[in-house]
Amino acid sequence: MKYPKEYLDEIKTRLKVSTVVSKTVNLKKRGKEFIGLSPFKTEKTPSFTVNDEKGFYHCFSTSEHGNIFDFLMKTQNLKFGEAVKTLANLAGMRPYTFSIQDEEREKKWQEYVSIYNKYVQFYHEKLLKNEKASVARDYLKKRNLSKEVVKKFKIGYVEKNTNFFEKLKKDFNEKVLIESGLFYLDDKKNIYVERFRERIIFPINSIAGQPIGLGGRTIRENNYLAKYINSPETQFFKKGSNLYNLDLARKLSNKIDQVYLVEGYMDVIGLSKNGIDNVVANLGTSLTDKQILILNQFFEDIIICFDGDESGYKAALRAAENSIKELKPEKKISFLFLTNNEDPDSFVNKNGKDYFIDFTKQNKISIHQFIFDHYKNQTENNPSSMAIFEKTLRSTANTIKDQFIKKYILEYFLKKISSLTPYINNNKRQFFTKKTKSLKSTQKYFNESKSISLIEIKEFSLLYLILNNLEIFQENIHLIEKIKLFTNENKLVFNAILSKLKNGDKFVVNDLSIDNQLIDKIFKFASIKHILNNYQNNHDKIFDLLEEITRDLKNYELEFRIEELESKFAKDLSESTFNEIRELKKLQNIN
Ligand code: CTP
Ligand code: MN
Repeated sequence: MKYPKEYLDEIKTRLKVSTVVSKTVNLKKRGKEFIGLSPFKTEKTPSFTVNDEKGFYHCFSTSEHGNIFDFLMKTQNLKFGEAVKTLANLAGMRPYTFSIQDEEREKKWQEYVSIYNKYVQFYHEKLLKNEKASVARDYLKKRNLSKEVVKKFKIGYVEKNTNFFEKLKKDFNEKVLIESGLFYLDDKKNIYVERFRERIIFPINSIAGQPIGLGGRTIRENNYLAKYINSPETQFFKKGSNLYNLDLARKLSNKIDQVYLVEGYMDVIGLSKNGIDNVVANLGTSLTDKQILILNQFFEDIIICFDGDESGYKAALRAAENSIKELKPEKKISFLFLTNNEDPDSFVNKNGKDYFIDFTKQNKISIHQFIFDHYKNQTENNPSSMAIFEKTLRSTANTIKDQFIKKYILEYFLKKISSLTPYINNNKRQFFTKKTKSLKSTQKYFNESKSISLIEIKEFSLLYLILNNLEIFQENIHLIEKIKLFTNENKLVFNAILSKLKNGDKFVVNDLSIDNQLIDKIFKFASIKHILNNYQNNHDKIFDLLEEITRDLKNYELEFRIEELESKFAKDLSESTFNEIRELKKLQNIN
């Protein structure tokens, strides 16, 4: 709960920093400030100053800095609330009582927990001893639950007709009792009846170990009653924020890094019975982000092990998609799939602890592998299905909050996807050395000029074509002025030509103020020259050749741009970048 600012300010105005500090540090006045030996470090020359006017202290040798609350927290190792209480007392103020609502909530919470405690204890004892509970004891015996296990999990049994509500009413506020969800109103008889009647009950505890909700299993074999029910959501019990057995499992977290996350109460109990206590269950709802965050506070490695049937698989997938968002660099989430419709309870009872642990080691798969495999299996070998596959994986990666994990999971996905598109990747790798889509008739010539990059040769051809038809292009400057070149030298030549052409005067190659060596290179390597020689002054052919060259250059540009965008996308995963890549790829295909 948060202290109001006015209360804290009141303490600060009543207490000077020097008053608080001088209780532990010997201060000497120097000008407007006080000076003393640092409480944060052993030193001989004083470097610790206090300024009452400004309300802070500063230590020059350790750079510690703060107000009176900070000072107490740091020097006496107190929590903020404790520091506030101590200082309020020193200032002669009353301890802060939170608002009436806060107080009421607190009171209600105390009562709520007492009701649950009393209820759980009452029916637990009944299960252990009561005559009427023998049917439940028989059931548990059949399921091989020993008395020790029943005690460990405080399992209880609620008989058919009880008048416990009436009894509790004597000790507790009726409103809170009703809000607990343990009873509901039977409209016909107008009495409160037990929600969990004729059910075995499993107390669900808060992290601190207090019962705040219940799961209940019917012991009757029929299919009109739900096999399991839970306490309804209340002010103090939120299914998505709690986990069954977290209070016991978390105590192991200083020894064990891993925790199993299973579906059912009986799975937790089954594993525990077999010596595996680092296990929790989510409470009959799908796994929430919150539950993952809570588990991560205690454990590095979450192993999700749901039932080995179709609904278990579906729940696992939902859990994977939900929890991948919360993945952190130092945390792991993996999945363990059981075979033959087994659930963790039946599996461990059949095979024992060692086998279960071995089985985990050998069969658990990472969350990203699971997601990849799942969607891969859904994908058919056709372009649209593959495209959806890639897009799904990209957007799944995109949900990950941690930027680093996001990057590497995306990398993992893309690497695996790229193994499915060997042709594209092959081309990509050879991008800078690959053959351009060359004019067929000049292919031979290309091979002779390997030391010059193919993109350069393409540009030479363009320049050669223009230089040999200056008049034609002077009249058709619009055909060439937008062309983009890549190599700097060729750009230089191209721009020089363009400006001369635009100038409008007639000119010859030698009029260009360009290094002769560059011109020589163009004339020597332009692969186009052999073709062009056959088509002197054939305008149509010249334009055809120009078109062919520009298309190739355009494709280079696209390829560069796509590469650029793909590395951008790997970083920002933005939808707009993705769309741009898609559009460019479309263009590439048209060309
Ligand atoms: N569950 C539920 N409501 C149901 C069925 C199941 O809330 N009608 C939840 C319960 O939390 C239960 C879990 O889903 O523990 C797993 O269900 P299931 O696999 O059917 O139960 P088991 O743990 O296998 O229990 P049992 O062995 O008693 O059948
Ligand atoms: Mn099950």
